[in-house]
Amino acid sequence: MKFELTNKKLNQIRADLEVILIPNKKLKHKWIKDLAAIRTQDYKASPDEILYLPHRKRLYVGIESLNINEFRIGAALAIRAIKSKKIKSLKVGLYGDDPVGSGVALVEGFILGAYEFDQYRKEKSKNNISRIILATETHKGTSVDLVELKHKVQQSQVIAQATNYVRDLVNQGPSDLTPPILAKEAKRLAKENNLKCQVYGKRWLAKQGMGAFLAVNRASSFPPQLIHLHYQPSKPKSRIVLVGKGITYDTGGLSLKPRGALVNMKIDMGGAAAILGIIQAVSQLKLPIELHTILGVTENAIGQHAYKPDDVLTAMNSKTIEVKDTDAEGRLVLADCLVYAQTLKPDYLIDIATLTGASVVGLGEYTMGLMGHNQDLKRAFLGASVTSGEEVAELPFNRYLKSKLKSEVADLSNLGPNKLGDAIVAALFLSEFIDKRNKDKWVHLDIAGPAFVEKPWGYNPYGASGAGVRLVVQWMEQLLK
Ligand code: BES
Ligand code: ZN
Ligand code: ZN
Repeated sequence: MKFELTNKKLNQIRADLEVILIPNKKLKHKWIKDLAAIRTQDYKASPDEILYLPHRKRLYVGIESLNINEFRIGAALAIRAIKSKKIKSLKVGLYGDDPVGSGVALVEGFILGAYEFDQYRKEKSKNNISRIILATETHKGTSVDLVELKHKVQQSQVIAQATNYVRDLVNQGPSDLTPPILAKEAKRLAKENNLKCQVYGKRWLAKQGMGAFLAVNRASSFPPQLIHLHYQPSKPKSRIVLVGKGITYDTGGLSLKPRGALVNMKIDMGGAAAILGIIQAVSQLKLPIELHTILGVTENAIGQHAYKPDDVLTAMNSKTIEVKDTDAEGRLVLADCLVYAQTLKPDYLIDIATLTGASVVGLGEYTMGLMGHNQDLKRAFLGASVTSGEEVAELPFNRYLKSKLKSEVADLSNLGPNKLGDAIVAALFLSEFIDKRNKDKWVHLDIAGPAFVEKPWGYNPYGASGAGVRLVVQWMEQLLK
């Protein structure tokens, strides 16, 4: 899909179809020219309601409000409704108080909404739309700077494509995306985008003393891979390290998951995939940030060599961990990765992980959990949440939850006496591996809920959503302002 931008009026642009969003069910607007048809078809323009009038070459989509995120959703629903039809080009105007922002959101919505994962299907998905023309004509009648719009639209294409790239990775079957294959993919990405890439295996991890990470790997027939990618611009304004949970399949280990809970556990590398998408976007956008991404990649398998509940592990910072449950493996891998990440002396340290079922129970499947010690940093993420459209909710720490990690035999255990508050308890476990001087630099994002979509919503089709990419890139852009 190619995007074209023009100062021409909508009615001067030739296209196969015009897409018109209708906020708040308000059917009185000069762009709405089919009131008779609307009436006969009893079209109300309720949120997500579509009216396709092929003979009039128009498609109407109801949206809830003039909120930026509604433009993403509207564009996604429009493209999904028509991409397999015999239409090659679309035209659309701009909306709301921030028309440039609406253009950005529309472009994201078109790209994210058109996505379909068809790698394993004989019948491939169709998208016949090759041109999308954005007019600077606005719903409100205000004017827009074409140059600014062009620049912003280019950026949003990079971000949306990075999100789709992450979706592709996460949607692969777990036997097709193994740790060595993910490492190979990281090397390919590095080569294509001029990044440095180091892949470390078992021996290196052992030398670093990463006993927690290694334990999780023990039953797997694939080696563990710590993947370190590095983007170095010429004049960085900040050094940021991202850490991602990369469990290519989570069986639960000896604390085996029940059969139903195994399904979809291929998504347990969603955090690692997200940070690959982020570094792709950041390098293509040439943001002045020295960016490091650390992917902790392994299977959590089951077998004769498996680590066991009751094992005591020693992490890279010498802390000992009593294993209470081998299914709480993400925090073990992340513990060692976070210790390593801090040797890079970051200004900010962000980890992204499909860490806990508790976060899904607490927040639902649309919202990620945000945790950390620094209120200002968390506030910045909440701000980026609004602009990016990714739903984020803060989960608060408290010292009672922290005391649940006390162990009788080791410095701490990997699980409390029960699973109550486990999204927060897991984050407090991670916090034990953050040095005092880095506590305020760190936030943790639990994407277990939004990483995978069972029932399509908004601009998310079935499958992996690419959660985290848009949020973190948006946060970085706001940081640079
Ligand atoms: N990978 C899971 C968390 C998860 C659950 C991700 C649902 C995506 C969807 C994690 O490793 C896990 O198994 N967590 C356990 C922790 C428990 C043993 C304390 C859980 O949430 O049940
Ligand atoms: Zn697990
Ligand atoms: Zn897991």
